[in-house]
Amino acid sequence: MFARETGQDLTYERLLAPLDGFHQAVEQFRLEGARGANVTVPFKLDAFRYASELTVRARLAGAVNTLRFDADRIVGDNTDGVGLCADLVNNLGVVLSGARILMVGAGGAARGVIGPLLAANPAQLVITNRTYQRAEEVARQFDGDRRPVAMTLQQLPAQRFDVVVNATSASLSDSLPLIPVSCFDAGSLAYDMMYGIGQTPFLTLASQAGARTADGLGMLVEQAAEAFFVWRGVRPATLPVIKQLRGHRPTT
Ligand code: ATR
Repeated sequence: MFARETGQDLTYERLLAPLDGFHQAVEQFRLEGARGANVTVPFKLDAFRYASELTVRARLAGAVNTLRFDADRIVGDNTDGVGLCADLVNNLGVVLSGARILMVGAGGAARGVIGPLLAANPAQLVITNRTYQRAEEVARQFDGDRRPVAMTLQQLPAQRFDVVVNATSASLSDSLPLIPVSCFDAGSLAYDMMYGIGQTPFLTLASQAGARTADGLGMLVEQAAEAFFVWRGVRPATLPVIKQLRGHRPTT
């Protein structure tokens, strides 16, 4: 859709790599003349190791979701965090600067987006996780002026947040990260990074508290647009694509 919209001549298809054969599959693809690839779970770490050069944001994320094949190098990038921020700010009208943000989860999905969220200058970014130690480990990876704060689930009840992002895989099993409902109010946005699975228990909890809700479809499209820019140097319009995809998928 982006290529059609911007008049770029390209082919974009799915390529299924065997679980133990990412390197070989992507190297063969590159040698066939490919110019780049998006990489999704469970291969973002393999792509991180495969790249000959990493962008700053890929290094911070500890994962690569976008590869660009130049003549003399393989650039590993990560557009997930920028994609989430673009969806929050441009499509959902969230002001991140000065906001209190709660990140629920401390796996790869959470780590991938924390750098760009911090760069937007929130008042506070709290990471909480079922296994507290992992939240603390992720928080420690971001040092400098702006750094996230790790909190246990028990520390949360006294807190409310402007934005609560569910970066756990709990929604996949129709379960709920045990965050207290007091984290949300009518001024909050609850964002589930999952998409295409309808109203998740996390979003249901948030709507019960009067919060606005969003699924991760916008992030999917925005990270893809940023990858498109990495490859082609052209920024496609994303809203028409989001609208078209919404027409085919369950919404929240
Ligand atoms: P990903 O790369 O998708 O982030 P991951 O590294 O396996 O995958 O991390 C999954 C995240 O979802 C973790 O934060 C995990 O919490 P734990 O660190 O305690 O395992 C969280 N998670 C998965 N299922 C969950 C559930 N049912 N309730 C709460 N958190 C859950």
